[in-house]
Amino acid sequence: MERLDKIISNMGYGSRKDVKKIIKDGRVKVDGVVIKDNNKQVDPEKTKIVINGEEVFYKKYIYLMLNKPAGVISATFDNYDKTVIDLLNVEDQMFEPFPIGRLDKDTVGLLFLTNDGDFNHRLISPKWHVDKIYYAKINEKVTDEDVEAFKEGIVLDDGYKCMSADLKVLNSDKEYEVEVIVREGKYHQVKRMFEARSKKVIYLKRISFAGIDLDEKLKEGEYRELTEEEMKIIREKIKM
Ligand code: URA
Repeated sequence: MERLDKIISNMGYGSRKDVKKIIKDGRVKVDGVVIKDNNKQVDPEKTKIVINGEEVFYKKYIYLMLNKPAGVISATFDNYDKTVIDLLNVEDQMFEPFPIGRLDKDTVGLLFLTNDGDFNHRLISPKWHVDKIYYAKINEKVTDEDVEAFKEGIVLDDGYKCMSADLKVLNSDKEYEVEVIVREGKYHQVKRMFEARSKKVIYLKRISFAGIDLDEKLKEGEYRELTEEEMKIIREKIKM
């Protein structure tokens, strides 16, 4: 059971305040009866909700793709800094989404958000080995030995041996640009993998996750819902 105003707000009918007005104006029917009490507890999966004469269909979960900017925290709350949730519209915040995994404060790029716990769990579980692709700039030249070491499995500072990762050198003349594919998500993983090779990541962007590429149309700080097609691809990967 959920509050009627929350359910309707989640359906995209505006903020809680807008929705209170819609309800107060008598424009909402629940199982054929006009309800003017926005606190009314309703089971959205078992009741028929009609707004302005049209039946509406309840959406329980939300799945978002964000192009995370630098300087924001991948969490739902932080005492000091802006979080990725602060970048969302109120209507989307109503769903109480949270980020799937974490990107460091200074890392940019693809971050999924959802309020679906099971979906989140599978995407971050080591069991499914979901690919994550990063574009990085490194402080010095990346060598064939580095590529080989990534393939072998880098041993991190705490002794953990990483799974085999694909390291591809994109540009070895000027900026030392690389692409890295990792299949697990240890804390500061990419940065620590390069540190194990005595090199430093100076820019890090996630460009793909679970077979879904970051939408190039999204500027940093912008987001959109994942499409049906994208959801299908992800669900196949995590057998869901
Ligand atoms: N690896 C890192 O070091 N940082 C990130 O944000 C993601 C992967």
